[in-house]
Amino acid sequence: MNGNPEKLFIAMVGLPARGKSTIASKLKENLLKDAIKTRIFNNGKLRRRLMRENTSYPEFYNPGNQEGVRLREKIALINIERAKKYLENEGNIAILDATNVSSNRRNLIITLANKYPLLFIECMNNDEEILEASIRRKIILPEFQHLSEDSAIHSFKQRIDYYRSIYNTLAKERNFVRLDSLNNKILKEEIRDPLPYYDRIRDFLVTDSVRNLFLIRHGETYFNLENRIGGDSHLTEKGRSQAMALAHYFRKKTIPVIFTSDKTRTIETAEPIKQLQEHCSIIPLSEFNEIDSGVCEAMSYEEIKEKMPSIYASRKLDKYNYVYPGGEGYVTMQERIDRGIKKALYLSGNAGNIMIVGHRAVNRMILSHFLYRRKEDVPYIYIPQDKFYHIIATQDKKLFQLKRFEPFSKS
Ligand code: F6P
Repeated sequence: MNGNPEKLFIAMVGLPARGKSTIASKLKENLLKDAIKTRIFNNGKLRRRLMRENTSYPEFYNPGNQEGVRLREKIALINIERAKKYLENEGNIAILDATNVSSNRRNLIITLANKYPLLFIECMNNDEEILEASIRRKIILPEFQHLSEDSAIHSFKQRIDYYRSIYNTLAKERNFVRLDSLNNKILKEEIRDPLPYYDRIRDFLVTDSVRNLFLIRHGETYFNLENRIGGDSHLTEKGRSQAMALAHYFRKKTIPVIFTSDKTRTIETAEPIKQLQEHCSIIPLSEFNEIDSGVCEAMSYEEIKEKMPSIYASRKLDKYNYVYPGGEGYVTMQERIDRGIKKALYLSGNAGNIMIVGHRAVNRMILSHFLYRRKEDVPYIYIPQDKFYHIIATQDKKLFQLKRFEPFSKS
């Protein structure tokens, strides 16, 4: 290998919908901040730009379809050549963003990139539920618009199967990282050559990064009025007007996706926000459902104190660790909340703005995921209904700002 210390080729590897493009743009964004000139060469985008004919149908990806293979190879070659040119000129890092799942394709990259050190990053994620949700987000692409939702999903899955049939996992390549892209966890790491910028790249790969997270609590509900916990009640008039106020506040920002719980009150809060956006979808995640208060569901705190005094007293004594009989405690919510956050970050891909509409206990747990709080203080974090938290958690910036939004007035 003829290594040039200032230049690096990165080739992504993995089946479709495994988070490759998200990881590639996360790398690019962070490297650019360090003045390391980085560019992404994405085969899918180039294919859609160059080819007039429809290339979204599954047979195009059949390894037995010679014409499809030839066209895809052509696209790959154009991108490799463009990436090389970029490195020959001003670029420091060129990222080849494509599936690159077969040894054949990778050997081609190895041969053509031989002037520069080369790192493969393989993205894995076998969580069926998240893949399903991720595929649903992919089929929004214009190339699937002529199909019904079911046919588009079916078509995309067939495409994945074709790629799977030629998939060789990384093994003999000189430099590679295998990443669990849902959990930002390195599963295997082989680095045999000196690679420029690798220490930084490795760090970015394992760090959760959130550019703008708007964490909102649902508007006022009928249960809130009576101080009742849990349940699935609707928003009151005031709650609906809080949701409208949020919608107006955010209308000039781009919110491509709003994550809610399964509960009526969070979805009713998200709806008006979605309405005032150009392209926005609501994704309910059960991981963000409010704490299950078991035998106390739908009771008011006063009723619990009166009818179940021992529950009331024990919870007061150690609110974080107390688990409602037949329900949950903050301590037992931890795992599902962490999973919900991972899911939301994964599904929002490269979106700069992410919104979560959650509940009081849920939002406390989400906040404490990004901002350290002693466990015993988490169940008391202030989560109002007329303000929201703006969170930024990147490698070079941390921000936790409680912001007020103006009440909605019809005039
Ligand atoms: O009262 C609203 C609510 O979201 C309930 O559904 C939930 O049980 C409670 O807040 C959580 O807050 P705490 O842990 O302080 O009781």
